[in-house]
Amino acid sequence: MISERLSARDSPPRANDSRTDARAQDTPAIKLAGVTKVFGSGNEVVRALGPLDLTVATGTFVSVVGPSGCGKSTLLRLIAGLDIPTEGKIWRYGTVLDWPSRDVAIIFQEHVLFPWASVLENVMLPADVLGLPKAPARERAFRLLELTGLKDFAGHKPHMLSGGMKQRAAFCRALLSDPQLLLLDEPFGALDALTREELSLELSRLWQDLGRTALLITHDIEEAILLGDRVIVMSSRPGRPRLDISVDLARPRDVNTAKHPRFVEIKQMARSLLFAREQD
Ligand SMILES: Nc1ncnc2c1ncn2[C@@H]1O[C@H](COP(=O)(O)OP(=O)(O)OP(=O)(O)O)[C@@H](O)[C@H]1O
Ligand SMILES: [Mg+2]
Repeated sequence: MISERLSARDSPPRANDSRTDARAQDTPAIKLAGVTKVFGSGNEVVRALGPLDLTVATGTFVSVVGPSGCGKSTLLRLIAGLDIPTEGKIWRYGTVLDWPSRDVAIIFQEHVLFPWASVLENVMLPADVLGLPKAPARERAFRLLELTGLKDFAGHKPHMLSGGMKQRAAFCRALLSDPQLLLLDEPFGALDALTREELSLELSRLWQDLGRTALLITHDIEEAILLGDRVIVMSSRPGRPRLDISVDLARPRDVNTAKHPRFVEIKQMARSLLFAREQD
């Protein structure tokens, strides 16, 4: 693996974060050691992932980009605790992981809003499921809707929203329980290019405000760089990191960030690896 960690900004302190105290900042949000995932048996075996070691520092945004079928969603599901590794161990915040947790939010490519419920009711759903106190949850729901420009649509049903707005509502719902870790699997994949860019910059701002750890899976190299503190480029299946590069570009980022020579350089490096014939 090629490793380039120039001015790694691994654990930026978050002023508005009561839970990420000095000790928590030292404990990685995610740690994987020798993780593999094999599906099936006999002639049907698919070696989907690894062996893979990975550490994600608390409070950072890490983007993972890689070819289709290299095990990115599998990696996310393992970290979420939705599946177990064939070999190796996974820790979240220093604890060996063996079940899903309310401190983790997952956002998939397709929003899954309930069509019969209003936007607000959809966003409030975790409050019912997790038994969160209603009044503060409602307050937070409105704050999130405001942050994502959806406040005036709180009473609307999902079919009355655009694709980007639905995905924003799905973000609000995922963030309602104030998860420490945000796992995003191609969250903008179903959107047109313009909405995708707009929403990814919005996510970048939201992530800065909330000060949580995020792991983004994407096919889009530019999106990976624009959002990440770090970009990991995976090999083809079984997926392993081939490049781990620190995105030493100032925040907040905007559309002009893509013109920065360093952005172009990182993009070139990632592209050449993604499109090169694998040699390992
Ligand atoms: N539950 C499963 N049972 C059997 N094979 C699976 C299962 N889940 C994933 N796989 C296989 O593991 C490999 C990796 O799948 P995964 O969905 O993680 O890829 P991906 O990198 O997310 O691809 P994409 O970019 O297309 O979403 C694929 O070959 C897939 O067929
Ligand atoms: Mg996938």
